[in-house]
Amino acid sequence: MNDIFLKACRGERTSPVPVWFMRQAGRYLPEYQEIRGKSDFLTMCKTPELAAEVTLQPVELLGVDAAILFSDILIPLEAMGANLAFEEGRGPVLQPPVRGEDDINRLHHIEPERDVPFVLETIKILRRELADKVPLIGFAGAPFTLASYLIEGGGTKSFVNIKRMFFANPVLFRRVMDLITDVTISYLSAQIRAGAQAIQLFDTWAGVLTRHDFRDAALVYARRIFNELRPLGVPMVYFVFDGGHLLDLVRLSGADVIGLDWRTDIDTALFLMGDGNVVVQGNLDPCMLFLSEERLRDRIAEILFQGTMAKSHIFNLGHGILPEIPPEKVKLAVEIIHELSA
Ligand code: CP3
Repeated sequence: MNDIFLKACRGERTSPVPVWFMRQAGRYLPEYQEIRGKSDFLTMCKTPELAAEVTLQPVELLGVDAAILFSDILIPLEAMGANLAFEEGRGPVLQPPVRGEDDINRLHHIEPERDVPFVLETIKILRRELADKVPLIGFAGAPFTLASYLIEGGGTKSFVNIKRMFFANPVLFRRVMDLITDVTISYLSAQIRAGAQAIQLFDTWAGVLTRHDFRDAALVYARRIFNELRPLGVPMVYFVFDGGHLLDLVRLSGADVIGLDWRTDIDTALFLMGDGNVVVQGNLDPCMLFLSEERLRDRIAEILFQGTMAKSHIFNLGHGILPEIPPEKVKLAVEIIHELSA
């Protein structure tokens, strides 16, 4: 079994360095487009055979060292009673937004086996089909990021509604966050029981907060999730996008691995986190996959070199693969990473 990803999560240095990519299953792959052409995104997420098939595509096509469950962070919000839609060209929409007490009263806790059975079934199929070839990563959105979709009613640039609730109505904010946190603990526990061998918590939007507010509006909830899941014994990754100013706090989350976006070099990140005794994951700018082969090789070498200063290193992008990126380049990147770190 190729378990270099799990070894690196646990702090062992590996040769080669493991690599997987956020959004490694997706629209940049013609093989994904083929299936996506026949069904919409949410249907794919809710059909275990399809979700499992697209999860396996990058493992076979690219040779990455881990599979990540094909789903979306917003799936549990729908299970809680929110109304979720993906509109072409507009991204996710959750209408009506959660703004007052009545809106929160309409949301409820979830029982994963009853409310998201398709996710657990997908994981079971994947563990069977992967047959321990590479480990399977489960995931969830972190509470602040999920709450931003619920409260804003979809994507946002200003985060004015969630910040307004946090500052003007902290009691209500806390109720939403506590509910999402409880749901996320049940949801990730169920994924682990079904067979997920590691989990990643995506905090895509917590970077819009000051350090002070990050502690109160995001970190306390993420910490509770890691604390409660710790006894289940699987490695846990915390990825705060655009969180360079928060890294020393992110480190206090209790996660085993700290995900880094491309804005903060690994050496700077290690300095900010206090020492080199941290497992890091990252952090090639996805757009660097447009570089020529020679220059891509140089940038990968630089990241691998900086990664040697951490306790251990998992190679990834600093955010998800974009639909515009040529799949051959992604495959080439995997080969270069493996070759240079062997
Ligand atoms: O990484 C993987 O391959 C696993 C699958 C995965 C998806 N979304 C599939 C997806 C994961 C881990 C996510 C996480 C996710 N979803 C995040 C956090 C990570 C990040 O990107 O910051 C967020 C914020 C979302 C919410 C979301 N889902 C948005 C904003 C969008 C629309 C943007 C877009 O590219 O259209 C999605 C849709 C989505 N999630 C797609 C995929 C493959 C594209 C769906 C399609 O049209 O085929």
